[in-house]
Amino acid sequence: MAKLSIVIATACMLHSVLDIFGEDPSTGRLSDYRKTSQYYYELHRPQFHFTPPMNWMNDPNGMVFYDGEYHLFYQHNPHGNTWGHMSWGHAVSKDLVHWEHLPIALQDHYGVMIFSGSAVVDFKNTSGFGDGTKPPLVAIYTGHGHGKQTQDIAYSDDRGRTWTKYEGNPVIDLNMADFRDPKVFWHEASHKWVMTVSIPLERKLRFYGSSNLKEWELLSEFGPAGAVKGIWECPDLFPLEIEGTHHSKWVLIVNIGSGSIAGGSGCQYFIGEFDGTHFTVDSASPQSNASGEQANWVDHGKDFYAAVSWSDVPKEDGRRLWLGWLSNWQYANNIPTHPWRSAMSIPRSLTLRGTSQGLRLIQSPAKELRKLRGKEIAYHELEIMNGTRTFTEGELSGKRLEIIATIELGSASEVGFRLRKGKDEASLVGYDVIRNTLFVDRTQSGDVAFHEDFGGKHEGPLAIENGHIHLQIFLDDSSIEVFGNLGETVLSERIFPSPDNISVEYFSKGGDSKISSLRAWNLQSIWHP
Ligand code: FRU
Repeated sequence: MAKLSIVIATACMLHSVLDIFGEDPSTGRLSDYRKTSQYYYELHRPQFHFTPPMNWMNDPNGMVFYDGEYHLFYQHNPHGNTWGHMSWGHAVSKDLVHWEHLPIALQDHYGVMIFSGSAVVDFKNTSGFGDGTKPPLVAIYTGHGHGKQTQDIAYSDDRGRTWTKYEGNPVIDLNMADFRDPKVFWHEASHKWVMTVSIPLERKLRFYGSSNLKEWELLSEFGPAGAVKGIWECPDLFPLEIEGTHHSKWVLIVNIGSGSIAGGSGCQYFIGEFDGTHFTVDSASPQSNASGEQANWVDHGKDFYAAVSWSDVPKEDGRRLWLGWLSNWQYANNIPTHPWRSAMSIPRSLTLRGTSQGLRLIQSPAKELRKLRGKEIAYHELEIMNGTRTFTEGELSGKRLEIIATIELGSASEVGFRLRKGKDEASLVGYDVIRNTLFVDRTQSGDVAFHEDFGGKHEGPLAIENGHIHLQIFLDDSSIEVFGNLGETVLSERIFPSPDNISVEYFSKGGDSKISSLRAWNLQSIWHP
């Protein structure tokens, strides 16, 4: 007993010492770190992706647009560079591209951690948290502690700068150990709030309804369905327009902790109808993963997880915007970066498209990213005989690039780009003409040894259109995101190349191919002038 109390006392002391060094930008370790020459210049620090200044990050949380600002909260450990002490870190952006770090919004407290969740603008002040002059922001999150997970809420009347936990928490308590990640939206047709929340181990979602965000009633359940391995986490539900029509369908997003298409964690979706109570799937023809399970995969790379969309993007804008966590639970805690760990993907807008395979979820890079482009580099009708075309440094090279290319496959059996090419290293973005797959091969991309599940080649199906494929690639210091055929197949992957390797090569194997057109730009940093 005495031993235990010493341990507890030491832990409390340690915790309060750590608190002093917490991540409030006005205090302690972070403000000191900010003054160093390393700050946002560290090895592998992404230059146009969101990363926390220091310490661990996982899922995006509380994504909401309000008063000209996109809020990005995130699962964060303010005290270390691995998972723990889960709190909500916070940043805002006026343009989806440049981010301003703000103090931690919600912090773990007396053994209750703040797990993932969402935030909404309560325009009608249904919660009564508002002062009547402006709508309150309400965060709906999972409280994790004392052996269970509950759904809790907090509110802010100062544009998300400070938050008050609701005194009547929890708002849903099923006395369950695993019950988490509430995503809430206002369902106009039935005039109520709808929460989608996961029962991870049962691979089920539950829908709850509420008139005031405080009292919730069960509407229905969904699942198991799709990929049946892996726990279900971080769901989302929203209507999406089918491109070229004025017709919408509902899309249900379910992130799964393991067993995804590329191995480890990933994201699947269902297309169907939501009537205010039930979600009904109406889209068949899903793709299978290696173990033959059937699912529609959002991203075929290994690093796109816990993706959820922004709430309350203005109607005039009309886009459904989201981003995901560029990592995978298999090795997230081992990523070789310091003193922070993890990055978010670039923001993407979502649509539905009728393809030869049926209706598909399409991801397109947010157009705002174009403002990062430097001088345009362009090529047309560049024929490449069976072999390699190396671009010289004055032509096309760099650590941060956007490349848009239309490739005529000709007689080649495999084509693509070697990025961050050095003597013994390269990260490949390619197309396998025989198998009709778009791939990223990071087997020799640099540091892959930090975890046995990290290296490897990952692929997704991509159709050839009139003898061509279309690629849009975003390369940052330690990531690749490739959008095939205008967002039909996407792969997101981290890479950790040697800093001196900046060359770009095009390769055409097994025959000749042609770059019909290529436009590329070196991209500016969002953290430095
Ligand atoms: C997903 C997840 C969520 C949970 C959070 C905890 O990555 O496991 O289900 O709320 O991370 O950090």
